Amino acid sequence: CRFSYFCFVFFLFPLSFFLFPLCFVCFCSVFLIAGVFLSCSPFGLPRPPVCACNKCLMEHDQWLSERTKESPEPFLSPTNNISEDTFNWWKYDRRNFAFYNKIVDKVFQIFPTKVNFTRSSPDLCRTCAVVGNSGNLNGSHYGPLIDFHDIVIRINRAPTKGFERDVGNKTTYHVMYPNSFRNLDNTTHLLFFPFKIYDLQWLIRFFTQRIDSDYDMLLSKNSTFFNSFMKYVHQIWLKQKGRYPSTGFITLVLSLHMCDEVSVFGFGADKNGNWNHYYEPLRNKRLRTGQHPGKLEYQFIVKLHEQQKINFFRGW
Ligand SMILES: *[C@@H]1O[C@H](CO)[C@@H](O)[C@H](O)[C@H]1NC(C)=O
Ligand SMILES: *[C@@H]1O[C@H](CO)[C@@H](O)[C@H](O)[C@H]1NC(C)=O
Ligand SMILES: *[C@@H]1O[C@H](CO)[C@@H](O)[C@H](O)[C@H]1NC(C)=O
Ligand SMILES: *[C@@H]1O[C@H](CO)[C@@H](O)[C@H](O)[C@H]1NC(C)=O
Ligand SMILES: *[C@@H]1O[C@H](CO)[C@@H](O)[C@H](O)[C@H]1NC(C)=O
Ligand SMILES: *[C@@H]1O[C@H](CO)[C@@H](O)[C@H](O)[C@H]1NC(C)=O
Repeated sequence: CRFSYFCFVFFLFPLSFFLFPLCFVCFCSVFLIAGVFLSCSPFGLPRPPVCACNKCLMEHDQWLSERTKESPEPFLSPTNNISEDTFNWWKYDRRNFAFYNKIVDKVFQIFPTKVNFTRSSPDLCRTCAVVGNSGNLNGSHYGPLIDFHDIVIRINRAPTKGFERDVGNKTTYHVMYPNSFRNLDNTTHLLFFPFKIYDLQWLIRFFTQRIDSDYDMLLSKNSTFFNSFMKYVHQIWLKQKGRYPSTGFITLVLSLHMCDEVSVFGFGADKNGNWNHYYEPLRNKRLRTGQHPGKLEYQFIVKLHEQQKINFFRGW
């Protein structure tokens, strides 16, 4: 067959139909085999485990790692100033950035240290329980399960006395802002969320005016403060819905950064759709979630649970 039009039509053209799929199959199998070899553990490149749990939160989870990569240092410290941009997002009144910095300096004169969270490590499994205040905890009998976690994080008022059966009695970190302030026992660290400059001023007044032994003790707890983290949660996690993320949701996102396994309790409505607290009787049946996008946050938690990133215990 001479190289001609006929040759092409009757010989090469049909052959190409046969050759192309063949090549394709060859190519694919090479990739497939290489893939299997690389990812199966006996043959694969050895990957150091991220943590010592059965399943580590950040392991092989691109979605989560990408989000957490964008996070700023969560905690305010003398060496971690926020940018003026972040300040303008955060600020609530007319006072300016210079004023804010002066207040922050003062805060760090009172609170010299900050909490050092344990970093992830191949021989550590940091299990955390994030405990909200939802009425769905009432009658849940979650107490022992909550206390079983290495780290228990509670939010705002969150009394445990008298509610141990449902909420447990251990508190490693207590997240608060001025409106919800209460005394902590000596095994609990304070995580303070300033929502405005006033909150920082409040803190200074609180600790400079009332120095008795209780408050002295609080000072020694290596308390911690944030705000650039709030902006990150608002923009990256909630896509700017609502004015602020809720304290509970910020805490949840924080736990994804500092734990290898996260269980969530006491979020969302109870089984009748009420958004009340476990520690007070239901007063207002129509109580909803206020300024922050509670429903969206709740859907997020449910989604993370369905994707098996966290364990969500809804209490009913
Ligand atoms: C943070 O800001 C304060 C007040 O402006 C300043 O004194 C301090 O040096 C700054 N720290 C850093 C690390 O930029
Ligand atoms: C926290 O950890 C860092 C680095 O590991 C260390 O430099 C710093 O001194 C620690 N801070 C406190 C208060 O322990
Ligand atoms: C919490 O409860 C456990 C078991 O019920 C008990 O052993 C422990 O002493 C309690 N801890 C505190 C701080 O009350
Ligand atoms: C915490 O307080 C309890 C009783 O109030 C006391 O027995 C214990 O020694 C204190 N622990 C620390 C670490 O200060
Ligand atoms: C607070 O930090 C200091 C210095 O890092 C440390 O020695 C102390 O044990 C910490 N206190 C608590 C309650 O963690
Ligand atoms: C908790 O549930 C019990 C039983 O249903 C109920 O009697 C009680 O009032 C509830 N407590 C609160 C604070 O809602």
